[in-house]
Amino acid sequence: MAKNIQIAIDGPAGAGKSTIAKIVAEKLGYTYIDTGAMYRAVTYKALCTGIQLEDAQALEKMLRATEIRLQPSQEGQLVFVDGENVSAPIRSNEVTANVSQVAAYANIREILVAMQQQLAEQGGVVMDGRDIGTHVLPNAELKIFMSASVEERARRRQLDNEKRGIPSSIESLIEEIALRDKKDSEREASPLIQAEDAMYLDTTQLSIDAAAEAILKLAKEKIA
Ligand code: CDP
Ligand code: CDP
Repeated sequence: MAKNIQIAIDGPAGAGKSTIAKIVAEKLGYTYIDTGAMYRAVTYKALCTGIQLEDAQALEKMLRATEIRLQPSQEGQLVFVDGENVSAPIRSNEVTANVSQVAAYANIREILVAMQQQLAEQGGVVMDGRDIGTHVLPNAELKIFMSASVEERARRRQLDNEKRGIPSSIESLIEEIALRDKKDSEREASPLIQAEDAMYLDTTQLSIDAAAEAILKLAKEKIA
């Protein structure tokens, strides 16, 4: 019987993790889990309820009383907070600008990491984030660290924004992405770093299909 392995994909914003992870999961018949959506969901609820983002204890109290549910769907993973579908609002610029602050708190990470580990327990998952290979699933059979130049990642975000009708300058996107990379890489709790046993994949000049194919080839070797 084919093994149900765990595939961990980490890397900075705009590297292509979620797009490529979704394709890999679909081709393997695996579940795709977007852990960034969970940090976004916590940030979104805090912003909606007026909880101070500087107050890690208040955020923890709020999170312990919150139900976060991930649901696979045709369009990808849906996110529910206390039963409300928040899949779209968690992608707002306001959430994006504040999520790294919330994600830096060790007490918040501890709760979300436990949920992520439970979701991946049976294998058959492709999970993307920042600390999946280093912290959440240290025994994952396949680990990928995906990156691309900051200019290319900003260009991709600009195209995504255009599609959503949001005007944005490339300079401001480079600045915002670089700042988030810095916060995510320099925080004390599970910073964004490449796991020793992760394969580095630079997607700057790699198409989505070529990147997905490369990962699928490695995954099939592990599964066989
Ligand atoms: O899609 P994008 O690359 O913009 O970001 P995301 O994957 O939705 O993650 C949003 C933020 O959540 C990141 O910038 C990190 O601050 C945090 N995050 C994290 O700390 N650990 C994870 N495993 C996933 C996300
Ligand atoms: O999840 P992450 O933030 O790493 O990136 P993403 O949301 O999957 O990708 C950001 C954008 O870049 C999406 O619109 C992708 O379609 C696009 N992309 C691309 O054009 N070429 C790649 N090799 C990878 C992603």
